[in-house]
Amino acid sequence: MNRWLFLLFSIKLISADPTPVVLWHGMGDTCCMPYSLGLVKYFLEKQIPDVYVNSIRVGNSTIADLENSYFMNPNKQVQYVCDMLARDPNLQGGFNAIGFSQGSQFLRAVVQRCAHKLPPIKNLITLGGQHQGVYGLPHCGAIRHRSCDYVRKLLNYAAYYDWVQSSLVQATYWHDPLDEKTYKQKSEFLADINNEREINQTYIDNLNRLENLVLVKFDKDTIVQPRETEWFGFYAPGQAKKLLRLQETELYLQDRLGLKKMDEAGKLKFLSYPGNHLAFSQEWFISKIIKPYLIGTTEV
Ligand SMILES: *[C@@H]1O[C@H](CO)[C@@H](O)[C@H](O)[C@H]1NC(C)=O
Ligand SMILES: *[C@@H]1O[C@H](CO)[C@@H](O)[C@H](O)[C@H]1NC(C)=O
Repeated sequence: MNRWLFLLFSIKLISADPTPVVLWHGMGDTCCMPYSLGLVKYFLEKQIPDVYVNSIRVGNSTIADLENSYFMNPNKQVQYVCDMLARDPNLQGGFNAIGFSQGSQFLRAVVQRCAHKLPPIKNLITLGGQHQGVYGLPHCGAIRHRSCDYVRKLLNYAAYYDWVQSSLVQATYWHDPLDEKTYKQKSEFLADINNEREINQTYIDNLNRLENLVLVKFDKDTIVQPRETEWFGFYAPGQAKKLLRLQETELYLQDRLGLKKMDEAGKLKFLSYPGNHLAFSQEWFISKIIKPYLIGTTEV
């Protein structure tokens, strides 16, 4: 994230009445650390004068926020954030939302479960999200918190145990393609928001309220496995080699989540970045995210 520092002085973009932005950080991160989302917030405020940025903190302190990214059940986190956003007076005219890594699928859940009770959410941008879950957590990467290694070990043998599901965030989006049946039954979070067990029409309607769902995949991602999950793709059921693009999955073909309809309406945007997990450059972020989706101008 250091490269963020270098371009803070770069071109400022003009926008009359900027749409607020909500950020949700990833695993082992927090709302506000000065080298991660604190810096992103600062950067957005520099690039979009007068913008209001709410970088979500789950819990009453930064430490609690970090711990909650591992241990607070996502269903509770999503409810907590729905309530927080509904109360925020600065968001009442609508907002854009950006999810970082697991914050991606959590913000999508906020949209699906709560959009009908919130001001309009215009664009949801997900950076390196795990929309179809993960089957493997190969590296903890820059995340040096000791919990990361613990999490990796636990997931590999106990992800679907009830006590793990209820106490370990990453287990709730663990997706074992060799055992789709157990995943669908046991995944407390992802199987539900992906309408795998039953179809919740509210989820479909709320997701479709978005103007755009922007999915960013990192082509050299070494943290998320498989990378295609960042574009809603995943392994074909029954094995862990062959990958299906979203458009080849049952989720899409049966249109269980309304993604086919959104795709046909041009609301799904598939962007990729030629680098590792969340390692995008500022220039890329300005031209591919800020200009088209946060200030609504496509000129480059
Ligand atoms: C934050 O603090 C309030 C008041 O002390 C408490 O009621 C609430 O449960 C806390 N929230 C979390 C997520 O710990
Ligand atoms: C569908 O989702 C909405 C929003 O979260 C919820 O209120 C409702 O109970 C869900 N319906 C079913 C059948 O689970």
